[in-house]
Amino acid sequence: MLVSAKEMLTKAKAGKYAVGQFNINNLEWTKAILLTAQEQNSPVILGVSEGAGKYMCGFKTVADMVKAMIDDLGITVPVALHLDHGSYEGAKKCIEAGFSSVMFDGSHYPIEENIEKTKELVATCDSLGLSLEAEVGSIGGEEDGVVGAGECADPEECKMIADLGITMLAAGIGNIHGKYPANWAGLSFDTLDAIQQLTGDMPLVLHGGTGIPADMISKAISLGVSKINVNTECQLSFAEATRKYIEEGKDLQGKGFDPRKLLAPGVEAIKATVKEKMELFGSVGKA
Ligand code: 13P
Repeated sequence: MLVSAKEMLTKAKAGKYAVGQFNINNLEWTKAILLTAQEQNSPVILGVSEGAGKYMCGFKTVADMVKAMIDDLGITVPVALHLDHGSYEGAKKCIEAGFSSVMFDGSHYPIEENIEKTKELVATCDSLGLSLEAEVGSIGGEEDGVVGAGECADPEECKMIADLGITMLAAGIGNIHGKYPANWAGLSFDTLDAIQQLTGDMPLVLHGGTGIPADMISKAISLGVSKINVNTECQLSFAEATRKYIEEGKDLQGKGFDPRKLLAPGVEAIKATVKEKMELFGSVGKA
């Protein structure tokens, strides 16, 4: 069932667990994540970056594929199809293409401009029943060639954006995309605590879920995080399983070169990673 992320995140915040956003790159990724969500009876958010959207031949192709897959696979758990780190124009395109949720990442704009653009999108999303994620304080690391420094958001600015009527708020708390460096200082729970004090019931979003230790994930959830984004970890699992298949020479045995066989171990690896995260985030059985 394709739905906005509002209800699933409101429930998650109240129930002190988090819903995973898993980024998709192609048909196999999407199928693996949807099947795992159904098997685990968990709500799920499919994330699509602008780069991944382009790779998959545009947002309409993605939206149509996801809707058809939900139908054909008989997926009954709540699924949100969400633009990840969208530009203002990208958000508009996804809304037109049939996404049920968008993120507008205005964190690189001065706060006044971030507020202005976010406000316009709140009006559009509200009228269509879509969920909207906004961001304050850029997330570090590299994503689609954009490198952020891993700031800690200003809690007062978070409150200003939260008060605009958005559905969920991503705030930088020292998290970064991709693998964490050995000298990473960890998440700033003081910042997260201060943000939650000011934003109350607003579901908070933790980006850069790959490689955050389990105890930090639990603490972040206890301080109001209700959506956790994971991308790189599925990519690493897929690559490792595919490498193993080829290194073992399995593509050279029989019809092992058939893409349906060659990609199967990678798909199983994504499923295992998604299941592990759903268990860690506490969303299993919460559909
Ligand atoms: P990772 O690639 O570090 O898991 O981050 C994903 C993310 O935050 C997508 O917005």
